[in-house]
Amino acid sequence: MKKVVVLGSLNMDYVINVEKMPQKGETILGLAMSKTPGGKGANQAYAIGKLGGKVSMIGAVGEDENGKILKKNLNSVGVNTEGIMELAGVCTGNAVITVDKAAENSIIVLQGANARLTKTDIDANKQIIVDSDVLVMQLEIPVEVVEYAARIASESGTIVILDPAPAAADLPDTLWQCIDVIKPNETELAALSGMPVTCIEDAAIAAKSLLKKGVTQVIVTMGDEGSLLVTEDKTQHFPGEKVVAIDTTAAGDSFTAAFVVAVTNGKSCEEAISYGNRVSAITVTRKGAQASIPDKEEVAF
Ligand code: RIB
Repeated sequence: MKKVVVLGSLNMDYVINVEKMPQKGETILGLAMSKTPGGKGANQAYAIGKLGGKVSMIGAVGEDENGKILKKNLNSVGVNTEGIMELAGVCTGNAVITVDKAAENSIIVLQGANARLTKTDIDANKQIIVDSDVLVMQLEIPVEVVEYAARIASESGTIVILDPAPAAADLPDTLWQCIDVIKPNETELAALSGMPVTCIEDAAIAAKSLLKKGVTQVIVTMGDEGSLLVTEDKTQHFPGEKVVAIDTTAAGDSFTAAFVVAVTNGKSCEEAISYGNRVSAITVTRKGAQASIPDKEEVAF
């Protein structure tokens, strides 16, 4: 089986469910609160493991209880966590998430140990990247570390997939040159391209502009509108599954993970996108990040 490595963040999510999002200066009453494993990197590694992929994770937690819980949860679905460092003097990343009745969320991340990852840590785990077929990254760790790992991967023939979340206005050219596949949502695409993205037609134009930076495939996730694949040769829309969403947290993470699992199982890019749509459609019908991700028995290719 092909090997995947995820380099990215691990956060403990503190989720508050509300009727509707508070306005600036407003105090509102919450409906429920929960503490649950999250972090974009960890969500993706967890989902790849749960969907049957062979996956390792590189990242950092603090020497605290949350760090142990997060690593244990990854281990429970077979993720190799040898590349996750436990750093002294800093806490594990935390995220405060508000989810409203329309299933939308707002997220504040306190990076903690995620922000302390360095190029030296990547050197210490270089062999995992070189030995993997695919490197998956996001932007909740320092961008210079993302760029450094991408260069190592690219030089050793490891495919680089970037989920550019949280949204960034620009990325270094040296990073763009190493990315094979980028998977922004509409907000992230608008930030990266500097163009408005309010509909599928806008998304196609903005995604085309990213191809000029050296990326081979742009896959835009558009919530219940589905996904859009843009390459030099084609633009194809994949309609979304119709479901009743209750929590959209980790919708993008589960899409990326499912796409990677399908591709590393020999599926075409188009089949992998359809699989990503199906997995993320199930994810949004359940509460939580990692807690909401289906397993491979529930969603076959
Ligand atoms: O993508 C969802 C994730 O974003 C949450 O789990 C939270 O930790 C933040 O990283």
